[in-house]
Amino acid sequence: MCGIVGYIGNQEAAPILLDGLTKLEYRGYDSAGLAVFDGENINIVKAKGRLQVLRELTGDGKALKGCIGIGHTRWATHGAPSVTNSHPHHNAKETIAVVHNGIIENYMKLKEKLIKKGYTFISETDTEVVAHLLDYYYNGNPVETIAKVMHRVEGSYALGIIFKDHPDKLYAVRKDSPLIVGVGEHENFIASDVPAILKYTRNVYFIENEEIVELSKKDVHFYNSDVEEIEKEMSEVKWDISAAEKSGYEHFMLKEIYEQPKALRDTISPRVKNGEIVIDELTMTEEDIKNIKKIFIVACGSAYHAGVNGKYVIEGAARIPVEVDLASEFRYRNPILEEGTLVIIISQSGETADSIAALREAKSRGIKVLGIVNVVGSTIARESDNVMYTWAGPEIAVATTKAYSTQLSALYLLAMYFGKVKGTLAKEEYSDMLKELMLLPDKVQTILGDKENIQFFANRYVGAKDVFFIGRGQDYAVSLEGSLKLKEISYIHSEAYAAGELKHGTISLIEEGTLVTAVLTNEELYKKTISNIVEVRTRGAFVLAVTNEDNILDKETADYVIYIPKTHKYFTSSLAVVPLQLFGYYVSVGRGCDVDKPRNLAKSVTVE
Ligand code: M6R
Repeated sequence: MCGIVGYIGNQEAAPILLDGLTKLEYRGYDSAGLAVFDGENINIVKAKGRLQVLRELTGDGKALKGCIGIGHTRWATHGAPSVTNSHPHHNAKETIAVVHNGIIENYMKLKEKLIKKGYTFISETDTEVVAHLLDYYYNGNPVETIAKVMHRVEGSYALGIIFKDHPDKLYAVRKDSPLIVGVGEHENFIASDVPAILKYTRNVYFIENEEIVELSKKDVHFYNSDVEEIEKEMSEVKWDISAAEKSGYEHFMLKEIYEQPKALRDTISPRVKNGEIVIDELTMTEEDIKNIKKIFIVACGSAYHAGVNGKYVIEGAARIPVEVDLASEFRYRNPILEEGTLVIIISQSGETADSIAALREAKSRGIKVLGIVNVVGSTIARESDNVMYTWAGPEIAVATTKAYSTQLSALYLLAMYFGKVKGTLAKEEYSDMLKELMLLPDKVQTILGDKENIQFFANRYVGAKDVFFIGRGQDYAVSLEGSLKLKEISYIHSEAYAAGELKHGTISLIEEGTLVTAVLTNEELYKKTISNIVEVRTRGAFVLAVTNEDNILDKETADYVIYIPKTHKYFTSSLAVVPLQLFGYYVSVGRGCDVDKPRNLAKSVTVE
């Protein structure tokens, strides 16, 4: 959601900013802009639509001269997508330019105050308030000015700022929106995410809330909100640039679907030592684990779906009651958080605004938080009491695939570990699960080998209007994810239902030819789900079934069947989800949609 890039160094800034913004396209945007300081003036160019428009306007950046600049991709919140509303914004004299990711919640009050002081606004954005406030408080010292502004604005922000009076400096500050600093040789960067700068440097600083950064081409200085200089530790990015490139795949989503065996291996293997699950990063003692009375799993979107699945496994293996909440609900519903409660926050980006708020709500009430996070150094990772990283690597496509799969595997590991400590998992079952867990990557690979089968089926359904997904237990949990995958990238209406719920209303939507995808991988529930399949087929539905290879379904039962390898009953969703991801992907491709950057969506939802 909004992408920021800033550059200061010896090279021309604009091409580097455009390149960085391209790497942030996955975050979602509807307009873009650049501000480059040419030594005399700050020149701003903005465009509505794709970055290509901005490229054309600036001759790939060559028309904007100067070695200091800031760039932005905007995902509209306050004010429609338009050239005027896009960033950078500036003060009236055009001596200060600013790009912003986040929401200034008290912008109306500040705007009224500034209008009374004679300021004129040209956009409908909350960000323009920041440009004028910087002007209003400017005392010749940018760090002091930024600190003053920071004390007056409420909400979330990552800001990149240039001042005409300080032609050899670039400034940044953040609160609750992501921002990193990249350190190169005689050049430095700011960015919303690592891929934007990885081509130039692996050395980064993660900026904490309310820290101000002053960059020149040689140095980086950090200040707290009292304008005192602070020391920070530099980190090295371990992953490679190729992880953030398409490497010959048509789309990032397909590449990431194919990366799942590796992502699963990387997440599971380091935590299995000598036939035991060892989660070194957990600081919880065995006593702490035995004392857990209740777990809340809190997340958004697909991460929430992973949580719904995790509930079955944790309750089954560790016999701890689990409640799964949407972060946007949890944060406002005053949940009952008693002693002995553990809150697990799941997030790929680690920057989802509602999930961060839920984490803070739990911590403020003295509850321990365990984060299951993919992005190293992200806010949720930093603020959780314990963090378990999913090693999926960078995920670029808006629709998550490999991160979701690794979230499932992290939950399996936790469930088994807790079950072992609590003595609720019999030895035999533990070893059986462990064996199957280690085999998951290969089994996912097998399903990927059969992709043509799914592609063929998807091509028949590119024109579908409504698609229903049904299943029971964990098959219902994975249906939620299958349905989201389809709708978010193909724009086909789709719903997932617990199969037993159909009769309570939804079945009235089934018409001749309606596609129903039924997931049936749990042996104990096969027959029940088959009855539900019969019910919808009787009413004209066309049924695609996803089931285990030993559950042979004849033509009388389902119209089309995708078989997946057999695994432990708790892990079947990790296999069932793969054909569902491929189905969503191929339908989206068949409809000519923008698979990696679906309309209206952003990769990380950093505003409420
Ligand atoms: O970064 P997070 O895991 O916290 O993101 C949560 C959701 O926004 C995310 O899973 C979203 O639903 C994806 N578009 C699903 O593909």
